[in-house]
Amino acid sequence: MKKLTIPDILARKQAGPKVTMLTAYDYPWARMVDEAGIDIALVGDSLAMVVLGHPNTVSVTMEEMLHHTRAVARGVRRALVIGDMPFGSYNSSIPAAVNNASRFLKEAGADGVKLEGGRIVADTVEAIVRGGIPVQGHVGLTPQTATSLGGFKVQGKKAEAARQMIDDARALEDAGCFSLVLEAIPAAVARMISETVSIPTIGIGAGRDCDGQVLVTHDMVGLFDGFTPKFVKQYTTMRGGVLEAIAAYKREVEEGLFPEDIHSFTMPAEELAKLKDLE
Ligand code: KIV
Repeated sequence: MKKLTIPDILARKQAGPKVTMLTAYDYPWARMVDEAGIDIALVGDSLAMVVLGHPNTVSVTMEEMLHHTRAVARGVRRALVIGDMPFGSYNSSIPAAVNNASRFLKEAGADGVKLEGGRIVADTVEAIVRGGIPVQGHVGLTPQTATSLGGFKVQGKKAEAARQMIDDARALEDAGCFSLVLEAIPAAVARMISETVSIPTIGIGAGRDCDGQVLVTHDMVGLFDGFTPKFVKQYTTMRGGVLEAIAAYKREVEEGLFPEDIHSFTMPAEELAKLKDLE
């Protein structure tokens, strides 16, 4: 199976099909995402919330992101692996950002990194790209700075805010991003951005006119019992199934129904007899 490349993703803008991206945080999920033919496995900092139990994405560390990215990189054969740069890892200085971005490739086997922000991070993106590291941008609702944006709210509903976002998208393209996540923005604005930039846009809560789509896997399979945003489609409800299985296991253990003979090992009768004599 041939590993996808950045030019393969760029070519989708003209030739299609749409780019598919899902989050993965560990080896088994990376294997499933890859086996299903998803193009990009994003080790999102949503890890903080859906796997590590934090109330937001801000507290996840570089070491935690690298640890999970390593596991994902071990699980994929075809998909690109993108590591999400955690809050604080690219905002203090450009050299620190380049160093942290390169750690995702050198130490964790990622193919590129994603970071949040528009024109304000354009210089940082440019320096990381110059360092030979593919960068995916992320505008609209940027969860790491959700507090400054007034919470987890749809962005760009007013004309001036939407125009600023289009400028952000252009700046990120000029800085060298190979693709752009558009999160929680009106579909009409996402369409305008997608028509404006020459790199693929990947929407989440941004309507169907983006060049690709992304969802948080734990949301779309119904594994996360926290808040589920309006833009999530739940394709299955895994949590219910897993809870049922755990409850059945508990009951069978308590009632002595598990394990059965098929789950147990035997020893030759003569050896058992000898053992009894030894006692
Ligand atoms: O962290 C994440 O999962 C993300 C996606 C929502 C794009 O940034």
